[in-house]
Amino acid sequence: MRLLVCGGAGFIGSTFARIRARDHGDEVVVLDKLTYAGRRESLNDVDHVFVHGAIEDPAAVGAAIEGADAVVNFAAETHVDRSIAEPDAFVRTQMQGTYVLLEAARERGLRYVQVSTDEVYGSIQAGSFTEDSPLRPSSPYSATKAGADLLVGSYAHTYGLEAVICRGSNAYGPYQYPEKLIPLMVLNALHGDALPVYGDGMQVRNWLYVEDFARGIGHALERGAPGEAYNVGGPDECPNLEVVRRILALTGASEDLLEHVPDRPGHDRRYSLSSERIRTLGWEPRVRFAEGLERTVTWYRDNAWWWEPIRSGEYRAYYERQYGRALRPAS
Ligand code: NAD
Ligand code: TYD
Repeated sequence: MRLLVCGGAGFIGSTFARIRARDHGDEVVVLDKLTYAGRRESLNDVDHVFVHGAIEDPAAVGAAIEGADAVVNFAAETHVDRSIAEPDAFVRTQMQGTYVLLEAARERGLRYVQVSTDEVYGSIQAGSFTEDSPLRPSSPYSATKAGADLLVGSYAHTYGLEAVICRGSNAYGPYQYPEKLIPLMVLNALHGDALPVYGDGMQVRNWLYVEDFARGIGHALERGAPGEAYNVGGPDECPNLEVVRRILALTGASEDLLEHVPDRPGHDRRYSLSSERIRTLGWEPRVRFAEGLERTVTWYRDNAWWWEPIRSGEYRAYYERQYGRALRPAS
């Protein structure tokens, strides 16, 4: 199968591209705008054709989609804190970008997978969200992702586009940009920087190893029913404070580095997904959180070539804006 993987230079997209090219023999074309989060290095070991462009640009999409059998859309602005500070790009990429891709897929009668998030359901105190739960997003990030999901659903319903939506829980693993909780805490622990825990740190996330998510998206692509959404939730839930403590233990860093900082505005307390529907397609998670976290810490420890340019570049200014303090100088 020839796949157009949009946002394939990012964390989950590059993992998906690697698995599809290596294990399924798919031809992979990556279309990526290369924002701060897009890194061609993440595709060093992936057989692919690269097209530099934005999903909201019909000419770039038209060039990249030539000969494709299906489109899988990972491209998005993905960080909640950045969406609170500057929502503009979130609206453009998630809304206009998804629209341009849907039109291109519709014109050509292509199968389409929209990669989405559990955050579209909002926060849940107890129990887990199913695909029939109402969408109640709370941040500009999750609201624009929910808007994109609704647009995708309308193309399936109105035009009969063979579109499926795949909603993952919090993913973690190699190649994740260190603005997100786990890689941020791992790199700070390795460098002796403070580990900034928002509020009381008792927010709960449902952790999903990135390869498990990528395989789930593959199941939805191959076997998903048009017009359906599929939740892909990780096997374990964990409060942030415990995640951070485990990272301190795995890196051997001091507990003194842990620091409570002001909470994120509108912070969702808990996410939890029921994944029964995707299990009917034969998917199940393979990596428990304890094992995946250990693998992830080892990967960051061994792959400074990947994160060093990030930690010494634009990220430093972002970090200072976000946390009001500088990272320790690169050693
Ligand atoms: P990421 O931020 O690591 O990567 C996003 C990629 O999209 C980057 O390569 C970036 O350059 C590219 N991109 C951004 N805007 C673009 C545009 N307008 N046109 C073309 N390319 C563009 O994100 P990720 O964590 O890999 O997430 C991928 C998808 O999975 C997103 O849609 C996200 O909402 C969803 N998701 C992420 C998680 C998670 O925990 N990271 C969980 C569930 C769902
Ligand atoms: P994040 O990785 O940004 O994912 P999301 O907000 O999409 O779930 O954050 C995961 C959790 O970690 C979330 O509850 C916010 C919290 N967090 C911190 O406590 N400190 C931090 O520096 C960051 C980035 C996140």
